[in-house]
Amino acid sequence: MKLIVVAGARPNFMKIAPIVRALKARGHRALIVHTGQHYDSYMSDQFFKDLDIPAPDYSLGVGAGSHAEQTARVMLGFDPILVEEKPDWVLVVGDVNSTVAAALVTSKRRVELGCRLAHVEAGLRSGDWRMPEEVNRVVTDSLSDLLLTHSPEALDALIAEGVPRKRIVAVGNVMIDSLFSALEREPHEGSHPDGNYVPAGFGLVTLHRPSNVDDPERLQLLLNALGEIATEVPLVWPVHPRARKQLAALNYQPPASVHLMTPLGYPEMVRLQNSARVVITDSGGLQEETTALGIPCVTLRQSTERPVTVTEGTNTMIPWPLTHQSIVSTVLSAAARGRTTGSRAGIPAGWDGRAAERIVSALETADPADAQCARQDTKAS
Ligand code: UD1
Repeated sequence: MKLIVVAGARPNFMKIAPIVRALKARGHRALIVHTGQHYDSYMSDQFFKDLDIPAPDYSLGVGAGSHAEQTARVMLGFDPILVEEKPDWVLVVGDVNSTVAAALVTSKRRVELGCRLAHVEAGLRSGDWRMPEEVNRVVTDSLSDLLLTHSPEALDALIAEGVPRKRIVAVGNVMIDSLFSALEREPHEGSHPDGNYVPAGFGLVTLHRPSNVDDPERLQLLLNALGEIATEVPLVWPVHPRARKQLAALNYQPPASVHLMTPLGYPEMVRLQNSARVVITDSGGLQEETTALGIPCVTLRQSTERPVTVTEGTNTMIPWPLTHQSIVSTVLSAAARGRTTGSRAGIPAGWDGRAAERIVSALETADPADAQCARQDTKAS
């Protein structure tokens, strides 16, 4: 098979790495298209190095912009590549703007080119339509020929939406493939933070959702709560570029026990999570990684598209509406709870480090007759 694998933003890279490796191991040809949605070396190139992803075959260099601009630039850049390469499959991952843009292009060309669209991490739903990712997820899933789910609730969500069962394969969580292989590897030279920045018994903070960082009032509430938490649990915070801009606008001066740093490479982030007392985040990936590692996590969002991390894993959703006191007390009690060790009972099914192999098998065996593009609704003309 010939495939185009699309990636564009930081959370995509750890998903494509094991998939590209597994495709090659089974003798398939995988071309990588990097849209360039994330472009700083510490948000992109460093991940290609750390995760041993081959250099992209195509780089679209779309950069930053409004949702419309970013999506449109990916579509314009991706379309001629698709026409030129005529792959059997286009594989998109996650829920960023690059995902939905490549899915839209593929869906309009697939009958003409005879290619199919596969979505890894299908069926995630937060139910929160204010999140741009929710729009990206629903649109991408509705266009996909093969929907690859990573948790039982994602499968349930797709069935509830009427997606035919034969188009869905439960493959498990490919992020955990990358996580386990990073834990097995020796630490190496790279962007590891200076030891001074990582005090004993630290909590790890990441924030980048527009709902948390783009609203100055919300951000100030979070900063005040983090300041109080840090009087008991020192905090380490690799700052995402979106948050960095907003902290600068607020002229934020962190207290001594809040250690800001630039975003970290993947192995460094895995190691920091693995030694943190508690993780405070609004990231989807960290909710999953902390569950797999048994590290307490507090999610600073109103909803999660990954409820299995709460029901089976170590994740706690912050009570809503947010208050200073509830943030402080929820985080401190999660920190006091400590790590879940021993049995793997808290790790959801299919989060076993072998999801990429199952993804390749699903691609190999999917029946073209089941594809979305083979469908002709009675109303179609
Ligand atoms: C995007 C994804 C989000 C994902 C996140 C992970 C969408 C809608 N959002 O959000 O789902 O969780 O990536 O990071 O696709 N910037 C830089 N350097 C970079 C990249 C971005 O400075 O390498 C700046 C941009 O100028 C922009 C801001 O960061 O102002 C946000 O970047 P953008 O790609 O728009 O969205 P993210 O917030 O990163």
